[in-house]
Amino acid sequence: MALFPFLLYYLSGPRLLDSFRSFFFIPTCLALLTSLFILVYVSSTSKFFIHQHHPHLMIKSPIGSSRIPPTTHQIAHDSSHSPSTSAPDVPPESLEASKILPLWNYTREGIENLRYMESHQPIGSNGNPVNNEVFHDKDIFLEDYEEMNRSFKIYVYPHREDDPFANALLPVDFEPGGNYASESYFKRVLMKSHFITKDPSEADLFFLPFSIARLRHDPRVDVGGIPDFIKAYISNISHTYPYWNRTGGADHFYVACHSIGRSAMEKTNEVKFNAIQVVCSSSYFLSGYVAHKDASLPQIWPRQGDPPNLFSSKRKKLAFFAGSVNSPVRQRLIESWENDTDISVHSGRLKTPYTDELLESKFCLHVKGFEVNTARIGDAMYFGCIPVIIANYYDLPFADILNWKHFSLTVATLDIPLLKKILQSVSYDQYSTLQRNLLKVRKHFKWHPFPVDYDAFYMVMYELWLRRSSVVVPLNGWVEL
Ligand SMILES: *[C@@H]1O[C@H](CO)[C@@H](O)[C@H](O)[C@H]1NC(C)=O
Ligand SMILES: *[C@@H]1O[C@H](CO)[C@@H](O)[C@H](O)[C@H]1NC(C)=O
Ligand SMILES: *[C@@H]1O[C@H](CO)[C@@H](O)[C@H](O)[C@H]1NC(C)=O
Ligand SMILES: *[C@@H]1O[C@H](CO)[C@@H](O)[C@H](O)[C@H]1NC(C)=O
Ligand SMILES: *[C@@H]1O[C@H](CO)[C@@H](O)[C@H](O)[C@H]1NC(C)=O
Repeated sequence: MALFPFLLYYLSGPRLLDSFRSFFFIPTCLALLTSLFILVYVSSTSKFFIHQHHPHLMIKSPIGSSRIPPTTHQIAHDSSHSPSTSAPDVPPESLEASKILPLWNYTREGIENLRYMESHQPIGSNGNPVNNEVFHDKDIFLEDYEEMNRSFKIYVYPHREDDPFANALLPVDFEPGGNYASESYFKRVLMKSHFITKDPSEADLFFLPFSIARLRHDPRVDVGGIPDFIKAYISNISHTYPYWNRTGGADHFYVACHSIGRSAMEKTNEVKFNAIQVVCSSSYFLSGYVAHKDASLPQIWPRQGDPPNLFSSKRKKLAFFAGSVNSPVRQRLIESWENDTDISVHSGRLKTPYTDELLESKFCLHVKGFEVNTARIGDAMYFGCIPVIIANYYDLPFADILNWKHFSLTVATLDIPLLKKILQSVSYDQYSTLQRNLLKVRKHFKWHPFPVDYDAFYMVMYELWLRRSSVVVPLNGWVEL
């Protein structure tokens, strides 16, 4: 661009002789204009001239990033950024730039910026303001949910009461409890729901009803025998019925909450790579989990009765964690914060009641242990404590539907030393918004003995509905051709 003043100067320069000007004016002018055009063209098409800022170097703010369009998946943040990056040097008019703020530098300026963003609602493709609450897009979800509710059909491979493995293949006849209850709850509720069909020809998906949790406790199988059991089971159904072979299992699914499930498919790659695995241990880092094909099952410790009354004013502690120190991430957390007065971290069991801690803390830490999944997120939600996810590569439950940024925080494991700064920089208003949203999503993380609209069961069904399409190749007829 520096050429332009030079050109003007050149054309009007007093030092130029009249004869010189008349002789060279037109060709020189043309040459210079051409160069100018080439320069403008190159600079507008080449990345070489564009100042790039790196969104992946920033932690996205919990509230300010609400304009991000629906994404299919939101995973815990990659930890590859460096804390030395400062705020992007792009004017606040730029939508892209101002929604990305490093959390550890939550200046007044930054917060004003977020307020500016909040008050300038973007318009969606349908002309209505984009829904910025807990859903990626509430309208689309509600409409599609209704269609699912009307038309989704599941065929469950039938097993008799006197099957030697009825204990693992049929739903449990008691109210599930404990850490891995989600698996048993799902099957129990599915069998009572209107999604079940006895006619396989109208089924969208086929359910493989084995229970990893029950097999684990069955002395005939035990943990080591699960891969062989699954192999025999798939062999049985693929010989007895035509459905498995039609799609190579792509329209089949199973549900498991215990992390032992990750090795259960070791001898059946077709389940691992083709079927839909609905599992609690939904880490992008596990070789057994295939993101987008598989789905995350929320791990929920079922609690009886309504959730308690919640007042954020009573939350005196900034953050809370308790658990065994069985991973480098937890090790780091304890080492950084064990003597802190605001962040309370305990290795091992608590002396005070667990529920008191959940009720008295503003933030509850979900820290990757031996596994990525624990019931801590569900517990935090029940007690109105904002979950802080410190577990890179965790495919969060219902992330296709819910925008986790609006009711939780994700902190990269590398940023554990900055945790206090990050949490303290969340303003009162932002905290209230997060908590209001958290109470809205709570109903999606609750099981009921019979399905209740939008509860955990329906949400899992919707995740399956999103994954239902597959090509069915009819065996008869095609084989002879
Ligand atoms: C935060 O950012 C502002 C300018 O954006 C800068 O002046 C200040 O030093 C930063 N603070 C920290 C703690 O990095
Ligand atoms: C879903 O279907 C069930 C059973 O037909 C019905 O009771 C429920 O009201 C439906 N929910 C919605 C949101 O359509
Ligand atoms: C497979 O079928 C055989 C014969 O019907 C049965 O004995 C066996 O228990 C079945 N195995 C599984 C895992 O279902
Ligand atoms: C499915 O494929 C397997 C392996 O190719 C075969 O042994 C089995 O008979 C097939 N099942 C049916 C029902 O045709
Ligand atoms: C916490 O206090 C204990 C006992 O005084 C000490 O050994 C430990 O190094 C302290 N930890 C940190 C992170 O300061």
